[in-house]
Amino acid sequence: MQVDLGSLAFAEGGYLLVKRAARCVPPGERISVIGDAEGLDVDLRAWCRAEGHRLDWQPLPGTARGRAYIVTGAAESERWAGARRTTGEGAAGEDAAAEHPPRSWGLAARGATIEAGAPEFDFHLVDKTEVWADEAPRIYQQAAAAQWDPDTAVPWDAPFELDGDLEEAVVQVMTYLIENETAALIVPSRFIAQLHPHFREVMQVLAVQAADEARHIEVFTRRARLKRTQLGRSTAGGQTSLKTLVEEPEFAIASFLLSVLGEGTFLALLRFIERYAPDPVTAAVARLAAQDETRHVAFGLAHLTRHLKREPGLRPRLADAVRRRHDALRHTAGLNDEVFDALLLIAAGSWGHEALRQGSRRIVQLIHTMDEGRQKRLARLGFRPAEAAELSALHTRNFM
Ligand SMILES: [Fe+2]
Ligand SMILES: [Fe+2]
Repeated sequence: MQVDLGSLAFAEGGYLLVKRAARCVPPGERISVIGDAEGLDVDLRAWCRAEGHRLDWQPLPGTARGRAYIVTGAAESERWAGARRTTGEGAAGEDAAAEHPPRSWGLAARGATIEAGAPEFDFHLVDKTEVWADEAPRIYQQAAAAQWDPDTAVPWDAPFELDGDLEEAVVQVMTYLIENETAALIVPSRFIAQLHPHFREVMQVLAVQAADEARHIEVFTRRARLKRTQLGRSTAGGQTSLKTLVEEPEFAIASFLLSVLGEGTFLALLRFIERYAPDPVTAAVARLAAQDETRHVAFGLAHLTRHLKREPGLRPRLADAVRRRHDALRHTAGLNDEVFDALLLIAAGSWGHEALRQGSRRIVQLIHTMDEGRQKRLARLGFRPAEAAELSALHTRNFM
């Protein structure tokens, strides 16, 4: 095989032509290279030394040109001899995730050929059963397409002025929502760092989920500060409840408590706030957040359904987690009175007796809707009706 570089210098890309030719022949075979570029012999010599090839340079008498004979070494082919493709057992060409990707596959793109001897990464979530959902690619796509701009999606300039107490009620609810959204941002973020990136779509879903929560925090904060400079109250009970979520070490249990039970309950809450919002800004931020939460709940249900199918023993452990959390929070107040009262006033719309009566009925209905939703989702995960009812009743009074 012969490579004619003409006037192309080695560093200008000539090396790529030589490299390609060297790859085309088995180790020990000879290729020849000719060229006019100055210093070609020096460049070739250095390159061959680095790549483990042998070089023979023969000047062409009477010219600046020369001819190189390169006998290729085995270093390049040996380097990749123990290499593996980082892919699962799919049909040829299929981008399938492996059941147990080795930690040494590290950050490599799924499907890449990985050199033997790459370092092991300290990922904890390395089993497909624990994390995977076949719906993940679709949920990620939908999430990426549904990102909204907090600046333009909310009618921040819509003119309105609420009665002082009603405005304060909205500020209190926003204050409560912000701390809950913060927990919802931290939980998936923690697991992203533990997840084997081989499960690319799951990593992407969790990343967009965290980005969603970042926007929720932004719009709830902006609504809270729209007419006031001071935010509302944060209680010890509320934070104690969220702390149990933030500190849950197991992915399946954390997703169950956060996405299925917590965010599931929040869907009803956000729709309630949207429906009875006293102003268009509050309605818009609640609607936009609920839209994203639907996906968070859907992913939680999807990977837990798959996980439970492969490991039914997980179900009683999930149930125990709810009971344990309930026991841990037994002596806390749960939802703070301020939030409850604020929701009631928002649902009533005014201090009138009839309005308050109607507001109270709406709150009772909200609690019922939340409970119904939780039981329905628990049933989807295979819990029997009696246990679903029991677990739903034990869910934190803080809602999330
Ligand atoms: Fe959220
Ligand atoms: Fe969420």
